[in-house]
Amino acid sequence: MNRIAVLTGGGDVPGLNAAIRAVVRRAGEKGLEVTGVRDGWRGLLADDLVPLSRDAISGILPKGGTILGTSRTNPLRDADGIARIKATLARRGIDAVVAIGGDDTLGAACRLSREGVAVVGIPKTMDNDVRGTDVTIGFDTAVNAVMDAIDRLHSTTESHHRIMVVEVMGRDAGWVAAAGGLAGGADAVLVPEVPFDLEEVCAALRRRRATGRRFSIVVVAEGAVPKDGAAQTVRDAPVDAFGHARLGGIGAVLAREIERRLEVETRATVLGHVQRGGSPSAFDRILATRFGVAAVDELVAGRTGVMVALRGTTIVTTPLDDVIKGTRTLDPAIGALTRLFW
Ligand code: F6P
Repeated sequence: MNRIAVLTGGGDVPGLNAAIRAVVRRAGEKGLEVTGVRDGWRGLLADDLVPLSRDAISGILPKGGTILGTSRTNPLRDADGIARIKATLARRGIDAVVAIGGDDTLGAACRLSREGVAVVGIPKTMDNDVRGTDVTIGFDTAVNAVMDAIDRLHSTTESHHRIMVVEVMGRDAGWVAAAGGLAGGADAVLVPEVPFDLEEVCAALRRRRATGRRFSIVVVAEGAVPKDGAAQTVRDAPVDAFGHARLGGIGAVLAREIERRLEVETRATVLGHVQRGGSPSAFDRILATRFGVAAVDELVAGRTGVMVALRGTTIVTTPLDDVIKGTRTLDPAIGALTRLFW
């Protein structure tokens, strides 16, 4: 093996650059050249590549986002997508690919692996919902961002004796809502995995007021749904290449309804992409560095079709075939922990 490619796909997170840097540094140590792929799978379909020298990755460790760019391009959507990617790899003399992404990117990586491309995956998503790893790159930074936001919202919400509904990302998994809510001291946390009973939420808020606490913070994941069977709240936008609608708006819906039922002024704050921006936390920098190094080591050892992963404190691998079996939803024990504070 002489040359490997690295790409970042799907929504960006802080820590991607740390992973790219680690791939380049470990590959250099092993005598491998690294080619960067621009904008995820799009770059391999369109032959949009860039050499990644040691100079190119200098100073990127603390930077959020990804120096390679990203996209939600789905290479499996076109009938000739896999053939085009294989052609790019052959033309450029690339022997293997490190794909850094969430379930969509890793799903495509799995298909390519089955078609004979040497691929190793690295899990990243602020949602923390990739199967086969305890943690993904970007989760810790996002949770810290949510915690900081809740800390700030606390003082203003308390001064005005209001209820604040904080909408966070999390389409199918409530990891960010639960961890952010726990760290920020939320008074109720609503996650996609457990349809919420609005009257139960209101009852908890009333109980809290009855004990003299005149303000409350409710954290809701964008994918949370009420028990009455209503669908997820969707923004007015088309679906992306992987078929996902753009979610958002549940916070405002909830705030209106809570205000109506409790007759307490209720506001909604949508944290949005602030959760995915900025500099990676120390945890994410170290995790990304360990994943990047491990991915190169797997390729050098000839073990492909796997994703590097964290189990406990140890770096392990999981077959991509297992990774794509579904979403890793919130640990019910963590969900139960948030209920203690309702
Ligand atoms: O996949 C991660 C995620 O952060 C989801 O929680 C959210 O629904 C989505 O990305 C938003 O992505 P975009 O920036 O493309 O709108």
